[in-house]
Amino acid sequence: MNLIACCSFKGGAGKTTALMGLCAAFAAQGRRVALFEADENRPLTRWKENGLSNDTWDPLCEVFAADEMSLLEAAYEQADREGYDYAFADTHGGSSELNNTIIASSNLLIIPTMLTPLDVDETLATYRYVIELLLNEKLTIPTAILCQRVPVGRLTGSQRSMADMLAALPLIESPMYERDAFAAMKDRGMLHLTLQKLGNDPMMRLVERNVRTAMDDLIALSGMVEKKLEA
Ligand SMILES: Nc1ncnc2c1ncn2[C@@H]1O[C@H](COP(=O)(O)OP(=O)(O)O)[C@@H](O)[C@H]1O
Ligand SMILES: [Mg+2]
Repeated sequence: MNLIACCSFKGGAGKTTALMGLCAAFAAQGRRVALFEADENRPLTRWKENGLSNDTWDPLCEVFAADEMSLLEAAYEQADREGYDYAFADTHGGSSELNNTIIASSNLLIIPTMLTPLDVDETLATYRYVIELLLNEKLTIPTAILCQRVPVGRLTGSQRSMADMLAALPLIESPMYERDAFAAMKDRGMLHLTLQKLGNDPMMRLVERNVRTAMDDLIALSGMVEKKLEA
C-alpha cells in the first residue's frame, strides 16, 4: 500500500480538495483508496456522508479516523491488511507529532499551494520543514509541490513570478485548476460518479461538460502522482 500525504502549514491551501480529487481519479481506475482523516474538523467524513446521500460514494474507498496516533496506526494496519492500493492522509495545517509521523511514513508527500505571495511563502516554509525532518530522520521520500487553484485563463504578472519561483522546486507537472466542479466536490461527492449521474440527464449537458473537463484534469494528475511514486 502506498501512503500519500498532503501537507502544508497553511489552512485553505487545497489539501483536502486535492485528496478528494485524487481519490476519485484512482477509484475511477478501479483502485481501492483508504482515506486517513488526521484533521479533527473531519472534512472527509462529511464528504463521505454527502456522497452517500447523493449516491456518489464509491465503495472502493473508505474513510478512517486518524486524528490520534493510535487511530492512525490502527487505520494503517487495517487498510494494509484489507489490501487497499493507496492510503491518502489528510493533515490539518501546522506542525504536530501526528503530522510528523504521517510525513515520515509516507511514500509521497504533496504540498499544495496557491500562487499568491503569501501562499508561496508558507509553501516554502513547509517544504523546508519537511526536508529538514526527512534529513534528521535519514529518510528519502519524494516530495512535490502541487500548484492548486491555478486560474484557467491567463496568469497575472504576480502569479507568473510565483510559478517561476516554484519551478526551482520539484513540481507535479499537472496543476489543479480553479474550477467550480472541484469546489463542489465536498457537497456532491466523488467526481467520477457525479459525472456518471450527470451523463444520464440531458438538461445537465453543460455542467456535465465542466465536470468532465475537471475529471480529465484529475486523471492526468493521478498519472503524474503514480510517476512520482515510481521514481
Ligand atoms: N482547485 C480548486 N478549485 C476551486 N476551489 C477550490 C480548489 N481547491 C480548493 N478549493 C476551495 O478552497 C477552499 C479550501 O480548500 P481545502 O481543500 O479545504 O483546503 P485545506 O484542506 O488545505 O484547508 C475550499 O472551499 C475548496 O472548495
Ligand atoms: Mg483540509
